[in-house]
Amino acid sequence: LASLEVDLSNISPGSTVTVKWRGKPVFIRHRTDDDIKLANTVDLSQLRDPQSDSDRVVDPKWLVVIGVCTHLGCVPLPNAGDYGGWFCPCHGSHYDLSGRARKGPAPYNLEVPEYKFLDEQKILIG
Ligand code: FES
Repeated sequence: LASLEVDLSNISPGSTVTVKWRGKPVFIRHRTDDDIKLANTVDLSQLRDPQSDSDRVVDPKWLVVIGVCTHLGCVPLPNAGDYGGWFCPCHGSHYDLSGRARKGPAPYNLEVPEYKFLDEQKILIG
């Protein structure tokens, strides 16, 4: 199946769910106001793969990223690491609440898949 519909209504603020899309994990985080604030207070010149948070989300409440570490492809763990986002246990990469690579060997941010909102509580990935 090329596209995947995901109902967001059961994902509580601050939590992350993992869905499978085209054989890959996709992380969906329901961000809190604090998460959003934190993701937007980053000095972009400090990032190895500089991208503003607003370029990585459609609705700031929802972060949707492919759950494959950009170093060598492990699956990072949610709500972990030094930046509140993900931590990849394979070689110690840390990602922030926007899925951006912050520390460790990962060269790029977690990839944002193509998706759109079907309504306020439903997205279509792919
Ligand atoms: Fe994630 Fe190496 S695969 S840090």
